Order: sequence, then structure tokens, then C-alpha cells
Amino acid sequence: MDSKKDIRILAYESSCDETSTSVVKNGREIESLIVATQIKSHQRFGGVVPEVASRHHIEVISQITKEALAEANATWNDIDAIAVTYGPGLVGALLIGVSAAKAASMATGLPLIGVDHIMGHIMAAQLTDEIIYPALALQVSGGHTEIVLLKDPTHFKIVGDTRDDAAGEAYDKIGRVLGVNYPAGKTIDEWAHQGKDTFNFPRAMMEDDDYDFSFSGLKSAFINTCHHADQLHQELNKYDLAASFQAAVVDVLAHKTIRAIKQYQPKTFIMGGGVAANLGLRDRMEAEIANLPENLTPKVILPSLKLCGDNAAMIGAAAYNLYNEGKFSDLTLNADPSLELPYAAEMLK
Ligand code: KG4
Ligand code: ZN
Repeated sequence: MDSKKDIRILAYESSCDETSTSVVKNGREIESLIVATQIKSHQRFGGVVPEVASRHHIEVISQITKEALAEANATWNDIDAIAVTYGPGLVGALLIGVSAAKAASMATGLPLIGVDHIMGHIMAAQLTDEIIYPALALQVSGGHTEIVLLKDPTHFKIVGDTRDDAAGEAYDKIGRVLGVNYPAGKTIDEWAHQGKDTFNFPRAMMEDDDYDFSFSGLKSAFINTCHHADQLHQELNKYDLAASFQAAVVDVLAHKTIRAIKQYQPKTFIMGGGVAANLGLRDRMEAEIANLPENLTPKVILPSLKLCGDNAAMIGAAAYNLYNEGKFSDLTLNADPSLELPYAAEMLK
């Protein structure tokens, strides 16, 4: 009977500009998910202000802990473990979640599980469908652009990484030049669908035989094009600019990811992170995967748009896998702003 007991994890996420709590059952089922966004407070600064983020996290975290339990119809007695993002992210912001989770663990005696934010983004897929291993993830967010191999639910290896700006960061920076509010990705994606790729921006490192990315050259080319037109008092079509930028980002992401799928031959392909909500990227990846030879076609898991952005349910999903392996944290758990994904020693071919 005990072996079939449902495991409920209460999870916290506060690494950037969303404070979130969630109760997740058996790593698959969201019983509650509260996301308190602070985006409006950061918009007038054009990006996230760390101090402001920490203050907002403190203001809401106790309240949304109660809300997550209430929405799940649960009390602390129904919870089996407490999970929290402890990195990477803004140190002050992370500390609020880590402190709240540690306090809850101390007060209730429930075990504590520290979770890597990126592992969380990837495990949003587990809330969507069953992941068959080995899997390969394209993890694209505001701070990270990575191709990650998953040997099993807790052993990952980064095979491709960004050398400079992350994809989401590039969207936000060019969005600023176009006068789009932070975070700009969603609006640029919408504009891109109304324009054409007429500017032919550079596709960096496309033909290199590694899986790394670089988006700062594209960002500079975009900004230079806009400044040059400004000086000549020329008006450029914002929809074509957006379409051209997005085509360059999607071309590189799709090209390298497909090559990685061919090499590593995963059983499941996952997308995760805020930029995984990009409709242009989702459509392109689905189309390219559908064109692969049948024996190379992985199962595809694209989490819902809500689960692509920062949320605590993905942390609860990842924490369940750690729970199953007895990978608990103790009360010395600390925020680690530059935490790196756990590295699997022996991997696929
Ligand atoms: O994963 P996330 O919520 O936070 C981080 O961990 O960074 O990602 C936020 C990023 C922002 O840069 C935002 O502009 C981008 O995701 N984003 C998008 C879209 N929706 C959000 N980028 C491109 N297309 C979208 N539809
Ligand atoms: Zn994130």
C-alpha cells in the first residue's frame, strides 16, 4: 500500500520576476499553481530590477503559499516534501524562495529538495506527457539557450550553450529598440507573423560543427540597421524587422537542434523555457521533426505556453524525480545564482 502512496510536493519558484507556488502530485499532475507576476513593476525600467524583484517576492510569498494549499484542497499534512529553486537566477530573489522553503521545512519537519531552475524548465514536459529516455531538450529562456541531453530524469548533460546573449535576452533587447515593453518576446513573435524576412540578418555559427549559439552579433546587426535608418530619417517596417529577426533566431535554433537529434537519436524531444512559447519556433521544430526519417523521429513534447514561463509546477515536477532518488537537501541549502545543471558522467554515444 505504501509503495502506491501519492506523493505531493509543495514547490516554490522565485528566481526572477515571478513568485510562484504549486502543489504537484506524483511529478505529473498539477493540483494548484499560483503565479504572481511583477512584470508591471519592472516595465518602466525596461528590464528586471533585482532589488524590486526581491521586495515583491517577500510581499507575496506567504500569501501564495496558503493559496497553493487551498487551491489544492490540501493542508501541510497532505504534503510529502517541499521543493524550491535555488539557482540559477538573481541571488536576492532566489533567497526569498529558499528562505520560505527552509522555514516551511523546519516548521513542518517535511524534507526539503533544492531544484535547479533549468532542470525545472525541462521538466515542465513531464507535466505535459510521459518523457521516454534518453531525451533531448532545447532549453530557451531569458537567461539560457542550451541543448541538453537527458540520460534519465536526473542526469543531464549540456551539449550546446550560448557563447553570449541568450535567445530571450536578444528578443528583449531588440524589443527595446522597437519600443516594445519588457518582456518583448511575445509581441515580437506576433509582429513576426505579420511581416516578411526582408533584412537577411546574420545566422551566427550555423555551419559550425558544435551545438553552441551566439546571438549578440544578430542583436548588434539589428540595432545598427535601426540606428542607421534613424539617422537617415527612414522609417523601417516593424513587422518585417520582427519577422527578419525571428527568422534568424529560429533558423539557428532549428538547424542546430535537428543536427543534435540526428547525432544523439533521443526517444523524446522537449522544448522548455520562456522562448519555447514562441509560435514560430514551435511550428518550425514540429515541421522539421516531421520531416526526419521515421527511425530518427522522437516523440515531441511542447509544454503549454503557461508552463514555458517561470512557474513552480515545473519545480515540483523536477523535485519528484529527485525525491524518488532520495536526493534531499538540508537546511544549509543556499541560493546559488550561477548554479550549473548536474552533469552525467557517462552519457550516450
Ligand atoms: O523562462 P523565462 O520565463 O524566464 C527565464 O528563466 O529567463 O523566459 C523569459 C523570456 C523573456 O526573455 C521573454 O521575452 C521570452 O522568454 N519570451 C518569448 C516569448 N514569450 C516569452 N520569446 C520569444 N517568443 C515568445 N513568444
Ligand atoms: Zn526561467
